[in-house]
Amino acid sequence: MSIALIVLAAGKGTRMQSDLPKVLHKIAHAPMLWHALRAGLVLEPEKTVVVAGHGADLVQASAHEFDPEIQIALQTEQLGTAHAVAQARPALDGFEGDAIVLYGDTPFIREETLAAITQARVSNDVVVLGFDAIDPGRYGRLITDGDELMRIVEFKDASPLERSLRLCNSGVISAKAEVLFDLIDAVGNNNASGEYYLTDIVAIAKSRGLTAGVVRCPEAETLGVNSRSELASAEAGFQTLARAELLDNGVTMHAPDTTFLAWDTVIGRDAEVEPYVIFGPGVTVESEARIRAFSHLEGAHVSRGATVGPYARLRPGAELAEDTHVGNFVEIKNAQVHQGAKVNHLTYIGDAEIGERTNIGAGTITCNYDGVFKHKTTIGRDAFIGSSTMLVAPVSVGNEAMTASGSVVTENVPDGALAIGRAKQVSKPGLATKLFAMLRAKKAKQQAQKD
Ligand code: UD1
Ligand code: CA
Repeated sequence: MSIALIVLAAGKGTRMQSDLPKVLHKIAHAPMLWHALRAGLVLEPEKTVVVAGHGADLVQASAHEFDPEIQIALQTEQLGTAHAVAQARPALDGFEGDAIVLYGDTPFIREETLAAITQARVSNDVVVLGFDAIDPGRYGRLITDGDELMRIVEFKDASPLERSLRLCNSGVISAKAEVLFDLIDAVGNNNASGEYYLTDIVAIAKSRGLTAGVVRCPEAETLGVNSRSELASAEAGFQTLARAELLDNGVTMHAPDTTFLAWDTVIGRDAEVEPYVIFGPGVTVESEARIRAFSHLEGAHVSRGATVGPYARLRPGAELAEDTHVGNFVEIKNAQVHQGAKVNHLTYIGDAEIGERTNIGAGTITCNYDGVFKHKTTIGRDAFIGSSTMLVAPVSVGNEAMTASGSVVTENVPDGALAIGRAKQVSKPGLATKLFAMLRAKKAKQQAQKD
């Protein structure tokens, strides 16, 4: 069965107190919208339509960053969830398969749940995702008769008896696309909010002799975000789930509560993460790598057996091959560090390539930026870069070459050569002793004047 996703994202999110459309607020470095879109990927949707309204340009740009093929339907006035879904109709003209409606501000729907919904569609014309709420609050209530779903009543329109029910509507609904749009045609706005409720399609379906059923999921999955404080809770919720998943997959985490993950962090089995490590977006850590405490990684790839930190910073394009070592107070950006190379202390490596087994001494800097352009530093294999070398790019250092400590290297160093680029040292016999005596006498005189 081919599937079309319809993601509702037109709402303003007034309670966010923000100029940014609600669905673009981020959880674990990705807009909420992307979380919903990613969950939908499990259904291998043939088409995806995002219904945008408030901040539609920004929502469109973000959706297209996720997937350029996503279609955008504009809902200029927010007249209700049924009206929102109706805006997706032209984009799905002639589409024969199932449609499934998700909310852009409900980022935690699990793939298993979406799969269960498509499964339930086999025996029901309309399937609604429900959950048993601990505190049902203002959610719509699902009115069932045995396994059958009879109708959905919105909180505002519900009787006290209906409000006492705890089975709530998550908002996720699925039906054959054609059927969904036909049912929506019959939805009116004669209700407490004066809105076109998508939820009304259940009663309409029943009146037409169609069947409706409920799939249940844990409440945590249907958590919506309406305020900054709910956004913060959602972030915390995401982190808890993501940490648990890594632990289940065989990652050792010394203090999981202090590890912060991004929506797309990938860490292999038997990798080790020490306390207080922050993952920005786009990080892959392979098996048996070790990320030591207080490190910060973003857009980086750490291969098997590599060690990073403590206190290391990997920025976008940092590519560490197997068995590399990146130590404390080292920053690496857009650079390939090849197998077995070591960059252990107080160093900046940017726009560079470091050959196999090469050792970079403490305090080395690739001077990659001239104020306008970025330049590349290339260092060969088995080289030794002396402490505090300034490599003024563009520059290259050959295989098995060396640089003397404190050198400013402005010219290419051939294979096997030693580059020394610093002033020659002079030692003046006895001068230090004389200087000390002079300075101490001066201090004693000042002290005598004070007393
Ligand atoms: C909706 C459901 C309610 C359910 C709850 C779950 C209806 C009528 N009610 O209520 O049964 O328990 O979600 O969270 O469907 N949106 C648009 N255009 C609109 C209106 C809404 O795009 O014209 C989008 C919003 O941006 C949001 C989603 O649809 O992502 C839900 O809208 P919202 O107004 O929050 O619905 P609720 O009143 O919470
Ligand atoms: Ca809502």
